[in-house]
Amino acid sequence: MINNRNNKLVNKDGGKIKGIRGEILTFKADPFINDPEQCYDHLEDGLIIIQDGIILEVGNFCEVCEYYPELNDIDHYSDSIIMPGFIDCHIHYVQSPIIGSFGETLLEWLEQYTFPMESKYRDKEFSDNVAKIFFRQILEQGTTTANVFSTTFEESVDAFFEESQRYNTRMISGKVLQDRNLPEVLRDPDTDESIEITEKLLKKWHNNGRQLYAIIPRFAPTSTNRQMELAGNLYQKYKDEGVYLHSHLNEAEEEIDWVKQLFPESANYTELYNSFKMMDNRSVYAHCCLMKEEEWQLMHDSGSAAAHCPSSNLFLGDGEFKYWEAKDIKRPVKMGIATDVGGGTNFSILRQLNEAYKVAMLKKKNIDALKCFYLATRGGAQALDLENKIGSLAPGYEADIAVIDLKATEFIEWRLKFTDTLFEKLFVLISLALDNMNKATYVAGKKVFDRERTERFIYPDKL
Ligand code: GUN
Ligand code: ZN
Repeated sequence: MINNRNNKLVNKDGGKIKGIRGEILTFKADPFINDPEQCYDHLEDGLIIIQDGIILEVGNFCEVCEYYPELNDIDHYSDSIIMPGFIDCHIHYVQSPIIGSFGETLLEWLEQYTFPMESKYRDKEFSDNVAKIFFRQILEQGTTTANVFSTTFEESVDAFFEESQRYNTRMISGKVLQDRNLPEVLRDPDTDESIEITEKLLKKWHNNGRQLYAIIPRFAPTSTNRQMELAGNLYQKYKDEGVYLHSHLNEAEEEIDWVKQLFPESANYTELYNSFKMMDNRSVYAHCCLMKEEEWQLMHDSGSAAAHCPSSNLFLGDGEFKYWEAKDIKRPVKMGIATDVGGGTNFSILRQLNEAYKVAMLKKKNIDALKCFYLATRGGAQALDLENKIGSLAPGYEADIAVIDLKATEFIEWRLKFTDTLFEKLFVLISLALDNMNKATYVAGKKVFDRERTERFIYPDKL
C-alpha cells in the first residue's frame, strides 16, 4: 500500500532518519466522489520514516523497521491517531484579538470590531506579537498549513511570514487589498501603489522557504474596479508560479445585496470575480454559502476552491454552506475546511468538523467522519493545489503531522470503549472535540509542539 521499498536506497546519503510510530490514518483520494473504502489507509501499528523533513516511507511497524536497522530515533504514540497536519483553508490571523465579539451580523461586525482591530497592524511590534500568539494557537491544534489573511499593511505581512519562517511551516498569505468602503486608516491610500506593494511582497515571500504568496482583494465591496482589475492582472502574471488568489464569496444576504448595488452589470457575484480574471485553479473563496447552480459550475470549470467556515457562519448568522451542492458528482468543486477566525470562534479544525456536521444536519444531510477527516487533510491540500506536497502521509510528502489523543479527557477515553469501528471512533472524536485533542505537532519532521514538554513550542532550529 504506502510502502515504497526502493526508498531504503536513500539511506546511503547518511541523512539522519527519524521514525514516528503508532496508529496512522491518511487519505489518498476523495471519498466524496470515489468509493470511500478505496480512499484511505489505516494502520493499527504503523511507522513513518522521515529524512530531511520529507517522508521516505509509511507502513506497518514490524515490516518497515526491518529495513532501517540504524533507526534509533522513534517517537512512539500509543492511544493516539497520527494524521497529516490539519489544513485551515481560510483564517484571518489579524482577527485573533477579536474572537467572540458580541452580537452583530457580517457587515456591522466588520465595522464595529474588525476594521478597528485591523487598523492597529501598521505597528510592526503589535503585528509580531499577534503573529506569535496565532502560530501557537494553530500549532497547538495540529494545524500545519493555513491560507491566511493579514491586512492592509506590509508590517502585518512581514510579521506573519517571519514567524512562519521561524517554524518552517508551509503557509499562504499576503497583503489585503482594500481601497474603498472602509475606514480611511485601513484603506489603501493609492490603488496603483497597493498593487506595487503587493508585487514587492510577492517577490520577497513567494517560495521563500516554504512560504507561498496570495493576492488578496478582501471582497468585491472593498475594492474599486481599478483595484480588482489590477489584482486580477497580477494574478494572471504570477499564477503559473504558484501564486494564489484569495477572497470572500457569497457569505451572507446583506453582502450579496451590496455587491448587486455596487456591480449591477454583473450576472452574479462569482461571475464578477471571473470578469476580473480571478477564477483559476489557485483561487480560494471563503464561505460560498449562498451559491446559485451557475456559480458552482463556474467554480468547477475554473478549478477554484471553496473554504467551508462552519463556526463562523453560525456565529455571524450567515447562510449555511451546502457541501452536497459543492460536491455534486456532476461537477464537483474543490473544498476545504476553515476556521475563519475571528468570525470563527476557535482555532481547532476538529471543532470545525463538529460544526460542519451540525450545519449539514440542519438540512437533513449528514457528513461522515471519513469525509470530514479527508476535508481536514488531503481535501484541504487539494483545495490549495498542494495535494502533491502536503495533506497525506506517503513517500515524498512533507512531514507535517498531528497526533490526535484518544485519551484527551477521561470521558473521551471512556466513550471510545463503546466504539467498534474506525468510523465510529473518528466520529466520536469529532463530536466530542475540544481544544486539547492534539498531543504533538511536527513541521517538516520536527516536533515544534509537544503538549507534555516543559517548553511546549520550540522553533525547529532550537531543537
Ligand atoms: N467578508 C469580508 N471581510 C470579511 C471578514 O473579515 N470576515 C468574514 N467572515 N467575512 C468577510
Ligand atoms: Zn474571512
